[in-house]
Amino acid sequence: MLTILQGSDLHFGSAYDPEAGEAFRRAIEESAPDLVVITGDLTQRAKVREYREAQGFLGSLGDIPIVVTPGNHDVPLYRAFERLLAPFGNYRRYISPDLDTVTRVPGAVVVALSTAAPHRAIVNGRLQPRQLEFAARIFQESHAHEVRIVVAHHPLVAAPDSEPAEPMPDAARILDAIRDMGAELVMGGHFHRGFVLRSSAVCPAHEGADEVVLAYSGTATSTRGRVSEVSKNSFHLLMIEEDTIKVEHKLLNRDSMTFEFLCETILPRRGRPSGAVSSSSVLRR
Ligand SMILES: [Fe+2]
Repeated sequence: MLTILQGSDLHFGSAYDPEAGEAFRRAIEESAPDLVVITGDLTQRAKVREYREAQGFLGSLGDIPIVVTPGNHDVPLYRAFERLLAPFGNYRRYISPDLDTVTRVPGAVVVALSTAAPHRAIVNGRLQPRQLEFAARIFQESHAHEVRIVVAHHPLVAAPDSEPAEPMPDAARILDAIRDMGAELVMGGHFHRGFVLRSSAVCPAHEGADEVVLAYSGTATSTRGRVSEVSKNSFHLLMIEEDTIKVEHKLLNRDSMTFEFLCETILPRRGRPSGAVSSSSVLRR
């Protein structure tokens, strides 16, 4: 079994809640996952001070492998020249020199693709064909038994609730490309509430053997939770087993300041018989 702790939208800066941050850090320590994935928006305004705090947080997690990808908040919004000329300067300096990265852990290959597009979008994101080609090349070189995972901040599917939240442009085409490269899981954030869907929600032709699991997590440490998670903090704990992907949704209890189990979604892994395990969401409290 491979355990991945997925947290998102930390928003170091004015929106960061230090108490939630400490609870999140403790939850990571206690979960002792094989991998931590932070799916973008590490900062609120891409400032040096915010990046230093984010860097300190990541550094405090010890030896656990960490995958990080930038979000739309990780480039300057108001500093026009910086946005134009060196939008990822602080991200590269404090978090990662590369925007698109490859991380290998036993049993999995994770390709993180930057969807922050400071010259083409303000809030939404973009993926370039060359980024999808990069991911396809990496997966082509990986072993058949390794789970292929794509990490990208902006969702490829609309949020399944009342507030309109648009997916990335060309989501269906991108999901077809992700299916074709053999990936079975996409992780992201951005909408500040957690949900899990499958790619057939966007691409009906994926139904059956070609389903890709789409896991989008809420904001782990900021005050910017939305819709069902207004003023709430959450993260996902994913367990990838032989035949299934289980996603546990953890929500911060503000009385105890600990993240507690809220519900879980269990989905068959791509290509496994869908009759063996049914999609389910179980609420324990
Ligand atoms: Fe965000």
